[in-house]
Amino acid sequence: MKAIVMGGTRGIGDAISDSLRRQSHDVISVGHHDINTSDLDSVRRFIHNNPQTDILVLNTGGPPPKKFTDVTEQEWLKYHNQLFLSFVLILQGIKVNRGGYIFLISSSVVKEPNSNLAISSAYRAAFVEIFKLASRELATHDISCINIAPGLISTDRTLEIMKDMEADISSLPMGRMGKPSEIGDFVGAIVEREIKYLSGVTVTFDGASSVHVF
Ligand SMILES: NC(=O)c1ccc[n+]([C@@H]2O[C@H](COP(=O)([O-])OP(=O)(O)OC[C@H]3O[C@@H](n4cnc5c(N)ncnc54)[C@H](OP(=O)(O)O)[C@@H]3O)[C@@H](O)[C@H]2O)c1
Repeated sequence: MKAIVMGGTRGIGDAISDSLRRQSHDVISVGHHDINTSDLDSVRRFIHNNPQTDILVLNTGGPPPKKFTDVTEQEWLKYHNQLFLSFVLILQGIKVNRGGYIFLISSSVVKEPNSNLAISSAYRAAFVEIFKLASRELATHDISCINIAPGLISTDRTLEIMKDMEADISSLPMGRMGKPSEIGDFVGAIVEREIKYLSGVTVTFDGASSVHVF
């Protein structure tokens, strides 16, 4: 199958690309030089050059940690494009072939908004609503849509934004962060085993960190 993995050059996206490549899928891993999701012209060009695929991974760089009161108007606009509108345009513009899969990499904040991650909490929740609506339409084409909502995963980005690593890690239920390869292997297993009925769901990938039941 052909796979387009956005944010596929590092971290979680890179691990997903690796996993799919091990299964001999034809994987196009793109970074921010190939598509900048905060720049809608770049997004339109990308859609034009990549009109169809079998597997689509919607993923991009995350916003800076900020409290609601500290977010500037310019930042709201930038991340509205980066985390919401670009994904909407891609979902509308790139055809996923019958029997395909769409994975969204969001964040556990879609279930538990985090006051230090105001931008992420706002726009990821907004896109997850659209993704859920889309999953119902796409199901008629045998396309499965899975929203992966990571907690703390050990990537460059996490290492950059975490100030007190030791304290935060020891307080996690598993005493460690998640590995990017765990998400990569999850995506690989869904595709390899052709698990189709798990669709329209949010999979919280957080090592039991969250307190919500659903
Ligand atoms: N890691 C975690 O603990 C965690 C937890 C919850 C949510 N998330 C979210 O999951 C996503 C992936 O996280 P990660 O830790 O794997 O991130 P990462 O290691 O920083 O990788 C980010 C990826 O996105 C690409 N990218 C950056 N800015 C972009 C832009 N403006 N347009 C298009 N692509 C862009 C990067 O490309 P280049 O290599 O070209 O820069 C890279 O491939 C992020 O949105 C993050 O906020 C992560």
